[in-house]
Amino acid sequence: MKKIVIGLSFLVTLVIIGIWGFAQDNADLPKGVGPIETLELTELDPALAETGKVTFEQFCSACHKIEERYIGPALLGVTERRAPEWIMNMILNPDVMIQEDDTAYELFAEYLTPMANQHVSEEQARSILEYFRSNDAQ
Ligand code: HEC
Repeated sequence: MKKIVIGLSFLVTLVIIGIWGFAQDNADLPKGVGPIETLELTELDPALAETGKVTFEQFCSACHKIEERYIGPALLGVTERRAPEWIMNMILNPDVMIQEDDTAYELFAEYLTPMANQHVSEEQARSILEYFRSNDAQ
């Protein structure tokens, strides 16, 4: 009987930790290094995402595709694996990110090409983030 109780409470603890982890979502993902410290996301803005698509094609498509690996990583699902601040900082500050952020460094070690700073504005970077969000919402 004692063993069953201990076993059960262990199981319950695991379930609680699991639910808690799920609820945290990507709130505790690293934010990266750069000009963007906090970013509150609101409901998806389709017009902004459309602007972002055009901006992405102009500045990023030489190295990135959405669904497959190219010179850089495939960007589908990026809003699920990284915090919005991290994505913005990677776009606006890639050189420093590769040096100081562990995840960016690991990507660099894998892809062996440094992501080039495209010198887009914060507004342009934000529109690209919206484009990524719209891809990941589908
Ligand atoms: C010269 C090629 C190149 C260009 C241009 C480029 N990138 Fe990258 N990008 C990379 C590489 C390579 C990596 C992986 C990290 C590294 O090696 O520096 C990367 C990483 C990323 C990541 C992280 C992906 C992940 O899985 O976490 C994001 C987000 C990103 N790039 C977005 C962009 C956006 C948006 C633009 C356009 C403004 C852009 N990149 C322009 C090559 C490029």
